[in-house]
Amino acid sequence: MTSREIRQSFLDFFKSKQHKIVSSAPVIPYGDPTLLFTNAGMNQFKDVFLGIGNRDYVRAADTQKCIRVSGKHNDLEEVGVDTYHHTFFEMLGNWSFGDYYKAEAIEWAWELLTQVWKLPEERLHATVYKTDDEAYQIWQKYLPEDRIHKFAEKDNFWEMGETGPCGPCSEIHYDRTADLSGGKLVNAGVSEVIEIWNLVFIQYNRKSNGELENLAATHVDTGMGFERICAVIQGKESNYDTDIFMPLINKLVELSGKIYLNNENNPDSIAMRVISDHIRTLAFAIADGALPGNEGRGYVLRRILRRACRFARNIGFSEPVIYKLLPVLIDTMGDEFPELISHQDTISRIIKGEEVSFLHTLDRGIEIFEEKAKLAKNNEISGEDAFILYDTYGFPYDLTELLAREKGLIVNKSQFDILMNEQKERSRTSRKSSLQEVEIPSVSFKTKFVGYDFLEIDSEVLYVENNLVVCAETPFYTESGGQVSDIGIIILAGETYIVLEMKKIADTIFHICDRNIEHLIGSIANLKVDANRRKDIMRNHSATHLLHESLRDVLGNHIQQAGSLVAPEYLRFDFNHFEKVNQYQLNEIEKLVNKKILENINVNVEEKSLEDAKKNSKIKMFFGDKYGDTVRVITMDPKFSLELCGGTHVNNTSEIALFKIISESSVAAGIRRVEAITGKKVIEYIENLNSKINELEKSKDTLNNKIKSLEKTINDIKISNISNNLSDLIRNAELFNDIKIVVHQISVENIDELRNIADNLRNELANSGIGLIATIIEDKAQIVCVVTDNIKDKYPAGKLVGLAAKMLGGGGGGKPHLATAGGKDLDKLPELLNNFVDIVKNF
Ligand code: ALA
Repeated sequence: MTSREIRQSFLDFFKSKQHKIVSSAPVIPYGDPTLLFTNAGMNQFKDVFLGIGNRDYVRAADTQKCIRVSGKHNDLEEVGVDTYHHTFFEMLGNWSFGDYYKAEAIEWAWELLTQVWKLPEERLHATVYKTDDEAYQIWQKYLPEDRIHKFAEKDNFWEMGETGPCGPCSEIHYDRTADLSGGKLVNAGVSEVIEIWNLVFIQYNRKSNGELENLAATHVDTGMGFERICAVIQGKESNYDTDIFMPLINKLVELSGKIYLNNENNPDSIAMRVISDHIRTLAFAIADGALPGNEGRGYVLRRILRRACRFARNIGFSEPVIYKLLPVLIDTMGDEFPELISHQDTISRIIKGEEVSFLHTLDRGIEIFEEKAKLAKNNEISGEDAFILYDTYGFPYDLTELLAREKGLIVNKSQFDILMNEQKERSRTSRKSSLQEVEIPSVSFKTKFVGYDFLEIDSEVLYVENNLVVCAETPFYTESGGQVSDIGIIILAGETYIVLEMKKIADTIFHICDRNIEHLIGSIANLKVDANRRKDIMRNHSATHLLHESLRDVLGNHIQQAGSLVAPEYLRFDFNHFEKVNQYQLNEIEKLVNKKILENINVNVEEKSLEDAKKNSKIKMFFGDKYGDTVRVITMDPKFSLELCGGTHVNNTSEIALFKIISESSVAAGIRRVEAITGKKVIEYIENLNSKINELEKSKDTLNNKIKSLEKTINDIKISNISNNLSDLIRNAELFNDIKIVVHQISVENIDELRNIADNLRNELANSGIGLIATIIEDKAQIVCVVTDNIKDKYPAGKLVGLAAKMLGGGGGGKPHLATAGGKDLDKLPELLNNFVDIVKNF
């Protein structure tokens, strides 16, 4: 059987046992902060097990995409070294929600394995929890006692995580030994005898204080490793030899020119297993909306990618290669998981971008390593240096060790381990504290959200504990789809409580208030959302939809949402695009959004079944969102924007008022971010711009005044300098009949200055003198003639200047003591200066 047929036969089998076949949840869990990645098929049913959520079926089955990379259920460093652990795997599962229990779960598992898939019965072993006599007795119907084994908590008590649903389990193991001697190898962690199916009998909730709480009903939760069962059915020793992985490995063989050996210890083969495992995790996580980054799950993905890169380097790749496996993965899995196809381009570019940057990191790390190596004392690289290389430069420890060895150095591993442990402890405690913040009691009510239509209502109080209130109805929106929670007030028995935060678990909506509330169950509360804030949020949410479509319009249809935040102050939208969006494009995008705002478009909200919505390819869906069976389609002009969305919106686009992009940046390889504002914030923005312009105007005036006063100071200095020189001129002046005749050319800016200087000269000449001062201003000779009072009747300045000006091809005149003139013949000026004394003499 091919892997496709095996998957299908599992689903068909449980369908025939009246199970509803459901879709895999995304690998990125939404609304469960206790999980980084979906790690088991039951995650999507956690609320049902805890008794706080319902489904309209009591039996379900699926194949669930799972990622296990750290913590309780896997150790990344082992993956690829052995042949049966994975970071990404499919978990085939069947569930009973308070319906059938141990007998049916075991009976059907046995039937599928031995009758449908015809596995040899003698190779099957079962394990049960040490005190679970009920399960033991059921197994006795199918297996001899020497193949039913009892184990303690570690192996036979299954828990989802630190907290959550749990219970005793019974596992089915498969013995691959030739002589069927595998009984003693059950749970020994060897590939000869492997666990293939885990049947969990969920009956408790592990609380955060460690206590087990009985659940109201008992449930069945099973999980079968798809890759393992394929290996068993296809008669392969290693999961990697199945048709799930071989196409990936063959591609690596082709690209690297190396040989793949089915050998646990062969380094090339380990590398190929690691890479073909890790590409699956990366591709599925990115398809479901995660991105490599520096924190949380982003950091885990980056580590996985870097681990794959290192192994790729080990088999000779110095260029990006992991992304090249994507088409092969899509060939094998794209039909079951079409999200790989629809996000192919994004996944490929993100992986390639990360590969390029990590290869660069490696080069940089090698440089830093060389520096550290030079400073090594006693032939030892300190643990601290190795840790800095690892933590700051992303340089893997084993590479540090390898390079050190090549140089005859050792690395202080124990010091490195201590620092690593300290770091792990730090991140563990930070995870814990964020968990505590969201601890919400396991109670179940049905709160009706009426906040699409109302911002204030009266509603009956159903539940109160400390600062938590649950009402029958609420107008308060709970954070979802990027839109932040509402805040506001609850008035209860005359007391006002401030609602700080909202939390929704299954159908129960909790208002988290600023203080403890008196026990008033059954009374009527007045719930009032902060309406102005909410209206700002609605403007931003509707604008986000317009922005999304405008981005597609301007940049191309490849644009898909990669994340968003809709807050009262602003909106943030992340999307795939592989270069900076330039200013021209941003202007176009902004213009288009504003055009749609001005078009006064009614925002139409329609409820539809998810099935129907999927049929209309124009309706945008965000792959990161979890949609129910009924969805809301928000339409702003059926030719423009149609989007699935549970958020709150304006009634008409004109309410958005105005839209302004305030930044564009990069978030990760191939992912851009636009931040924008609407409504009141744009008005504030314009007011700010205005007051900035006013300030600029004011400072312009001040600057101009300053310039003027500086110019004046400079002039004064210049004039006083020139005036100081006047005494020299007078001293050296020619004497004619006791008249001092001063002739001089100076450089000034304008006639006024010239006149001022001439005036000064006249004062200096005091009792008897004539002065002619010339300058050139804008290609014109300008002259001023001054005559002291005692001789001004005899030698009127006006006349003298007239004669002088004639020589310059111009004219002029004035009073007897001071007269000005000008002329165009510049080249005549020197002659005039030489001859002026004669003009006086001959006058
Ligand atoms: N939830 C169980 C597991 O993950 C079936 O093994």
